Amino acid sequence: MTEHTEQAGRASSGDVLHVTDSRTGRSYDLPITDGAIWALDLRQIKASDEDFGLLSYDPAFLNTASCRSAITYIDGDEGILRYRGYPIEDLAVRSSFLDVAYLLLNGELPTKDESFTWEQEIAHHTYVHENIKKFIDGFHHDAHPMGILVSSLAALSTFYPEAKAISDHVRQHEQVVRLIAKVPTLAAFAYRHAMGLPYAYPDAELSYAGNFLNMMWKMTEPRFRPNPVLEHALDVLLILHADHEQNCSTSAMRVVGSSQVDPYSAAAAAAAALYGPLHGGANEQVLRMLSEIGSVDRVPAYIKRVKSGELRLMGFGHRVYKNFDPRATIIKKVADEVFEVTGRNPMLDIALELERIALADEYFITHKLYPNVDFYSGIIYQAMGFPVAMFPVLFAIGRMPGWLAQWQEGGADPEQKISRPRQIYVGEPLRRMNGPAT
Ligand code: SDX
Repeated sequence: MTEHTEQAGRASSGDVLHVTDSRTGRSYDLPITDGAIWALDLRQIKASDEDFGLLSYDPAFLNTASCRSAITYIDGDEGILRYRGYPIEDLAVRSSFLDVAYLLLNGELPTKDESFTWEQEIAHHTYVHENIKKFIDGFHHDAHPMGILVSSLAALSTFYPEAKAISDHVRQHEQVVRLIAKVPTLAAFAYRHAMGLPYAYPDAELSYAGNFLNMMWKMTEPRFRPNPVLEHALDVLLILHADHEQNCSTSAMRVVGSSQVDPYSAAAAAAAALYGPLHGGANEQVLRMLSEIGSVDRVPAYIKRVKSGELRLMGFGHRVYKNFDPRATIIKKVADEVFEVTGRNPMLDIALELERIALADEYFITHKLYPNVDFYSGIIYQAMGFPVAMFPVLFAIGRMPGWLAQWQEGGADPEQKISRPRQIYVGEPLRRMNGPAT
């Protein structure tokens, strides 16, 4: 057992990776624990006494576990996704987004009383300081709502300086509630600002999803009444986006949070990562791609351009899922519910034809490219009336509890410290400047 496994108090399984360094002929036994070796154990492997020791090199962390986590389990080959052990298929039909948020944060589904208390807590923290409106008003009319959301999440940190007390669990619970409660308000305000509409304030009598629809769509009616089918469909979509283990934005949440900054600033960094077109911004790109294709008969030509390497098929592919994304399967069922109310989105026909051709095509099969969570979600959002630019914002609303649960877990993990990777230096050797000092 090496010092790291001892320090961690981890009983080694007794399995070891036996390696021999051809530079010195020396051999080493690296303990294998939970299917991994401690990267730090490589440092003992030196070519000479002055040698720093071996590093592991893993750009984009393709094969590196950054943490131990009990929150979400994914099996990419089997298409399995579980939050705290519960299959996503069960949670999507038997739970609510706020109860799933509670599960991710606390490890257990809430009792009826706990659920009621939790819902009330969230419902009574949906307002934002009136100065946030002035902040949002400062954006140009065509500012992308994700840019507004990233900025306003960071801006929230200035209204709650007590959030810096990250070891104070009572204080941190307050910030977790505020972030989950306020992210729909910030999102809706960003939309209303872009549309030149007055801000519609939260309604504590409505459900979490219903209140978001209220803040998005309320006009002159005394009280907004959400369509129950769309309210439920949105709640399910939020559940499907709630967490996904160590994806790019969650890793950003953990890395930025490891500096012990407040959770608003860490959430702003996570939202910024999610904004990217390869991550949460993909749902927006899918709709732009479907619009560009324009009709079913033009799908084969587009697929040809993808196969030539000219383009990526947005909404397809995944770092972990190599057969199917279980969320895409559920989303297709939600689509039927929504289209009953909104009418069928013609983009669906193009999407289904893309999927049909791609799933039968050698290129996509060999590259293990299947529809991911973003392929169909945007079609539903568009049918519900959301503009394309709002799609990644909807993703961020759903992912907020996951970011916070992972941030909490990282902060409580005794094996974690401030993230600071090493590098392999490939730059210039020492060189001096010529001429006199200035
Ligand atoms: C999300 O990590 C998560 O869990 C993310 C997420 C979550 O819930 O948090 O699930 C949400 O971000 C879903 C993914 C949304 N992004 C997209 O739909 C954008 C399109 N997809 C890709 O760019 C890509 O598939 C990724 C980013 C999702 C995954 O990329 P990887 O695992 O790094 O794979 P890669 O880019 O190295 O590609 C491997 C090969 C390459 O071909 P070769 O160079 O080896 O010949 O597959 C090809 C790629 O060109 N490829 C694609 C493709 N995705 C990969 N070719 C065409 N279309 C695509 N979509």
